Amino acid sequence: MVSFTLLLTALAAAVTASPLQAVQERGIQPGQGTHDGFFYSFWTDGRGSVDYNNGPRGSYRVTWNNVNNWVGGKGWKPGPPRKVAYNGTWNNYNVNSYLALYGWTTNPLVEYYIVEAYGTYNPSSGTSRLGTIEDDGGVYDIYKTRRVNQPSILGTSTFDQYWSVRRTKRVGGTIDTQKHFDEWKRQGNLQLGTWDYMIMASEGYQSSGSANIEVRAA
Ligand SMILES: *[C@@H]1O[C@H](CO)[C@@H](O)[C@H](O)[C@H]1NC(C)=O
Repeated sequence: MVSFTLLLTALAAAVTASPLQAVQERGIQPGQGTHDGFFYSFWTDGRGSVDYNNGPRGSYRVTWNNVNNWVGGKGWKPGPPRKVAYNGTWNNYNVNSYLALYGWTTNPLVEYYIVEAYGTYNPSSGTSRLGTIEDDGGVYDIYKTRRVNQPSILGTSTFDQYWSVRRTKRVGGTIDTQKHFDEWKRQGNLQLGTWDYMIMASEGYQSSGSANIEVRAA
């Protein structure tokens, strides 16, 4: 027979467990993995809070509050050149945030961004333009920046960042990544290495914001 005391203990455990479960349901832990056929990466430097949730197919939903820096999204690993389509909601024009096709290569270690929309900070500020690219009816400017002793997929490292920044911001469309990679090399002598991951990322820097984005192969 189940004693009344045991029943009470079980009830008490259930009651105390529910707030914890509620917290966990607000978002997954930072990390990488696969979800519904897509690779995902969710990174934060740990300051503030990020409620990141993977959704169906290539979708994710995220809300961040008072972060220092976080970046995440869904895509592919490895992420060789492909045509990418995306859609969704991203309305962070008044805070420091990016919406970008984002990825890494190794040998050389490179962090790259094809920026579709950004908020208060233009990532090309203070750098000189290396060229331009036309893709899906828009013009992108090419830039390179250098990161010294910063977080990377290989730990703290010094590496280059390659950028395409769309002059007219948008949320939704297709991106021909091969075109960007080819023009980076041709116009800026920007070499990429071995494909690591490629995701349709949202990023927040010293900001609060939200996004709901879906990516797929075009
Ligand atoms: C993206 O578009 C598809 C097709 O119209 C729609 O079903 C889906 O809900 C959209 N995703 C987001 C995140 O808005």
